[in-house]
Amino acid sequence: MSSSAEGDRRAAEGKSTPPAIVVLISGRGSNLQAIIEAVRNGEIPASICAVISSRPNAPGLEFARTAGIAAEVVDDRRYDDRQSCEAALTAAIDRHRPDLVALAGFMRILSHDFVRHYDGRMLNIHPSLLPEFAGLDTHRRALEAGAWEHGASVHFVTEDVDGGPVILRARVPIKPDDTPASLAERVLEFEHRIYPLAIRWFVEGRVRKSGDQVIFDGKPLAQPLDYADVKNGR
Ligand code: GRF
Repeated sequence: MSSSAEGDRRAAEGKSTPPAIVVLISGRGSNLQAIIEAVRNGEIPASICAVISSRPNAPGLEFARTAGIAAEVVDDRRYDDRQSCEAALTAAIDRHRPDLVALAGFMRILSHDFVRHYDGRMLNIHPSLLPEFAGLDTHRRALEAGAWEHGASVHFVTEDVDGGPVILRARVPIKPDDTPASLAERVLEFEHRIYPLAIRWFVEGRVRKSGDQVIFDGKPLAQPLDYADVKNGR
């Protein structure tokens, strides 16, 4: 779908404002910062209507406040169970009627009901070349496995943790003297490039989810897009 087709769809739904994004964080917020910057410089034609953190002391909340974005906290430790926490989180998100929910270092395993509620409009950034190294501590695990490359992936969120259809990946070669920290630092640079790009495609209507597939420019992706190819126009 072209961006004007996306505009037609939004108009048909009675939406005349730019697409609205809610970003969920738990910590540092460097991906949030990259998204804020991309919205500010027009790379992402959308507005961030709220940033919601699962931790009251997440440094990323400050980036939101500095950018004049509503910053809210749904502190998961203040709820007795996951159901009540997710009910509060859903209410906080849905108040903003977002077109997209972007997870950016949001450290919670989400219930199937929650994920289904946002089916096709929730993205995540993960620091590995999915499907390799789903889960935590990916940089150390990649080094221990003797991998020769690592990277980052943007994917739709599904019930399968870190297992939803992948839109875009960036490959990062592993150097012989890499430590988990040095590798994480290089991967993070690419996270900050591919997440805003994938979000841009989403809000422009170029990328969407259909069942377990990613549709890009109207066609199912046989495999995730590779950032180097995209950048070089391949
Ligand atoms: C990133 O590495 C992201 O891929 C992962 O959590 C980390 C969050 O970093 N999901 P930040 O909070 O965006 O700086």
